[in-house]
Formats: sequence, structure tokens, C-alpha cells
Amino acid sequence: MTDIIISPSILAADPANLERDVRKVEEAGADYLHIDIMDGHFVPNLSYSSSVIRALRDKSKLVFDVHLMLTDPDDFIDDFADAGADIITVHQEAAKDLTKTLKHIKSLGKKVGVSIKPETSVDVIVDVLEMVDQVLLMTVEPGFGGQSYIHTVDKKIAQLKSIIDRKNLNVDIEVDGGVTAENVEIPIKAGANVIVSGSAIFNSEDYKKTIDSMREHGRTGVTLRESDNI
Ligand code: DX5
Ligand code: ZN
Repeated sequence: MTDIIISPSILAADPANLERDVRKVEEAGADYLHIDIMDGHFVPNLSYSSSVIRALRDKSKLVFDVHLMLTDPDDFIDDFADAGADIITVHQEAAKDLTKTLKHIKSLGKKVGVSIKPETSVDVIVDVLEMVDQVLLMTVEPGFGGQSYIHTVDKKIAQLKSIIDRKNLNVDIEVDGGVTAENVEIPIKAGANVIVSGSAIFNSEDYKKTIDSMREHGRTGVTLRESDNI
């Protein structure tokens, strides 16, 4: 049995009512708040600057799970740490010196995350697993909310889970993109324990019901293995 962590992505919240929507997901039982930072370069879209994190910080007790989709993450890590991020995740594809960047995040007292896009192999992050608290596996091409879950990532989740278990590490596996109450069971069974979900939560009538139902899937206790051919 795994405890499932739910991280609603505010990209799908109402931008004119961010504070209200953050309070609503917090009251509905969310654990983290997923905040997507896009630079229009690493991904073809723009989102927020650190000012949004700063503005929300004293309005919420949620763990701020900051996903940097930036070409030059090193230029902004201090700023996001100072604004109130709790977890800072950078993309392997963007980092010039990944080890250095991850050490930098850790030196600021923040939890450390590394992310890879759907087509990037898990192999490229194996050597840094000892340095991170979570791996964020993108289950859509990063840049936009509301896309469909890419099932070829299921195998990567199971592969990563078995590497983490083999190394006996305490690293969370977070999935991000296209996750809904209907399909969440698949990444959870493959080994994910942190669930990012934007549209499926913020477009639902009842946030609590959606979050509870996503969390419930973690209680089945069934785990798929890499060899299960998913
Ligand atoms: C996409 C972002 C995701 C996105 C998820 O680049 O990283 O966090 O907001 O949104 P949904 O759940 O709507 O796919
Ligand atoms: Zn994200």
C-alpha cells in the first residue's frame, strides 16, 4: 500500500481567482500545489514568474511543487527558492551541468526534483538518483495542460521504480500530464506515488471527490512490474 500524494496543477485554475482556487484544493485535501513555470523557449508557452509564488505563499500551507520548464534553470533557482518553493524540479534536457544544478537546489534547503520528457530515456537520470527527492516523469509533451496521457511512459515508470527499489533509495515518482480519476490507476500500479493533475481536478464539479477518488487508487496495493508487459 502506497500513500498517494496529490499535486493539483494551477495551470488549470482560474487565473483571475488563483487564491480562491488554491484554497479550494487545499480544503479538498490536496498535499502539494504544482506550479508550472514556462519560458516560451524550453516549451512553446509562457506561464508565471516567481511573483505568483510569492503572492500565494502566505495564503497556503500546501507544499509548493515548482516545475521549471526553462532553458536556463540555473538563472532562476535562487529566485524561486526565495519566493517560497518547497520542491524545485528541473529538466534533465535543459540542465547544462545537472549534478551542479541539483546540488545548488539542495544547498538552498529545498527538495530536489529532476524531470524528463516522454521520449527521454530513464537511463540519463540513473546516475543522479542518489541526489534527488523526486523524479517527475512527463506523461505529455510539456507546455500545455489538457492533453492526453501518453501510455508509452507506463513502461518507463515501472523501469524507474525497479531501479529505485534495487538501489534501495527513497525517491518519489511523480507523473504529470493527462492524469484523470479514470486513468490514474495505471501510473500508480506502475510505481508512481505523486500525481499531478490540472484539468481533471479544476474542471471537476467536486474537487474533493476527484482528489479522494485519485487517492483511493493507491490503496489497492497491486504493483505492476517492468516485466508485466504494460
Ligand atoms: C504541462 C504541465 C502540467 C500540466 C498538467 O507542461 O507540466 O503540469 O499543467 O495539466 P493536465 O493535468 O491538464 O494535463
Ligand atoms: Zn508540470
